[in-house]
Amino acid sequence: MKILTALLLLATAVHAADLIEHARAHADGKAAFSFDARAWNDAEATRHLPIGVFDSGIGGLTVLEALLTLDAFHNDTLQPGADGVPDFAQERFTYFGDQANMPYGNYSAVNRTDYLRELIVKDAVFLLGRRAWPAKGGEPKYDKPPVKAIVIACNTATAYGLEDIRKAVAAWKVPVIVVGVVEAGARGVLESKGTGGIGVLATVGTCASKVYPRTIASTLGRAGQSVPVIAQQGSATLAGAIEGDAAFPDSVSAYAMKEARALAEAYRAEKPSVPLQTIVLGCTHYPLAKEEIDTAFTALRQEDAFRDLVAEHRTFVNPAEATARELFRELAQAKLRLKPGEKCVLERGLFYLSVPRVEEVGIQLSGDGSLDKDYKYSRSPGHLDFEDTKNVPLTTELIPANSAKLVRERLPAVWKSLGR
Ligand code: DGL
Repeated sequence: MKILTALLLLATAVHAADLIEHARAHADGKAAFSFDARAWNDAEATRHLPIGVFDSGIGGLTVLEALLTLDAFHNDTLQPGADGVPDFAQERFTYFGDQANMPYGNYSAVNRTDYLRELIVKDAVFLLGRRAWPAKGGEPKYDKPPVKAIVIACNTATAYGLEDIRKAVAAWKVPVIVVGVVEAGARGVLESKGTGGIGVLATVGTCASKVYPRTIASTLGRAGQSVPVIAQQGSATLAGAIEGDAAFPDSVSAYAMKEARALAEAYRAEKPSVPLQTIVLGCTHYPLAKEEIDTAFTALRQEDAFRDLVAEHRTFVNPAEATARELFRELAQAKLRLKPGEKCVLERGLFYLSVPRVEEVGIQLSGDGSLDKDYKYSRSPGHLDFEDTKNVPLTTELIPANSAKLVRERLPAVWKSLGR
C-alpha cells in the first residue's frame, strides 16, 4: 500500500514536471500551455502588469470583489487602517474562470486529482502568458498582458495546486508572487480570535485534501495558540445551488441546512469540550450564502441535540477578505505595488472563461454544449498538444443567467468592472 502511494505521488510529480518542462521548451509562448519567458526581464515594467486571479469558474468573482473593495490599509504609508481609498485602486486585474472544466471539487471523488493538478498549473500558465482565444475565430491571439502576481481564488485549486504552482514559478525563475485562499483563510481564523471549535465548509475535494485542518493547525501552532477541534463537511451540492444550477432544485436554505447539520454531527464525532463557534466558508460560493448558513445553525440550535454543541453566536471566516489583505502585504513586500501616479498597462480589468474547443478531435460534449461529464472526469495528464478547452473573453452570454443575476446583485464592484 505504501509503495503504491509512493508510486502515485511520483507519477503526479512527474506530470507537473512535464508541464514545467513543456513551458520551458516553448519559451516564446506561442504553443498551447506556454508563456513568453522574457515578459519579466524589465523589473520596472513588471510593476505595471496586472494581477492575475483564477478560479474553477465564476465563484472566484467573490474574491475579486474583495480585492476591488478592500480598504484595510493606508495606501501611502502602507499602515493598517482604512483611508477611504480602495487598497488596489491603482491596480488592474485579469480574471480567469475555468468554467469548462469545473467543478474542481469533484475530481478527487473519481481519483482524478492528477489531471486536476495539471489543470491548475495550466491556469497559472494562462495568466502568465499572452496567449488567449478570441470569442470567434480558429487561431489564438497573443495580446493579453502577462501578470505580476497570481491569486488562486479557488479553495480546491489552492488545496491541490498551490505547491505545484510555487514549484513551477521557482523552476521558471519568474518573479511573480503566488497567493492562495487557504493560507489566507487560516490566517483569518487566527485573527478572528474565536474561543470555541472550528468547522470548515468546503467542496468534497477540498475536505478530502485535509488542507484546511492542516493549515489552520500549523497557523495557530506557529502563533503559539492551542489547536481546538476542527471538523469539516464537504458538499457536492451547495456551490451549484448557490449558482442557481437547475441540477440542484431545492432552495439554498435547504442545502445549507443539510450541510450545517452534517458539519455539526462531524464536530460531535470529535467529542469536543467546547461548542462549535468559528465557521470557515472554505468555498468561493459560500460567502454569498452566509445568511442562509448562519440561519441554518440558529435553526439547529432549536433542537435539544444541538443546543450545547453549537455556539449561540458564530464567527464566520471569509477567506476572500483575508486573501485580499495577504495580497496587499505580499505585493508591498515584493515592491510590486504601483506607486502614486503610476498606471497599469491595462486601462480596465480583463475577464476570461474557458469553453469547450469543439474542433478538437476526440472531444465529447453533452446536450447543452458543455464537456460530457464522463469524458471530463476520465482525462489523464501529459497530453500537452491537446486543447479540448480554450480560454476566451468573458461576455454576458457566457455567464449562465442565474450566475449573472448573482454577480449583478451581490458583487457590484465586479459587475461595474465587467462594464455592465
Ligand atoms: N471554486 C471552488 C472552490 O472554491 C468551488 C467550485 C468547484 O468545485 O469548482 O472550492
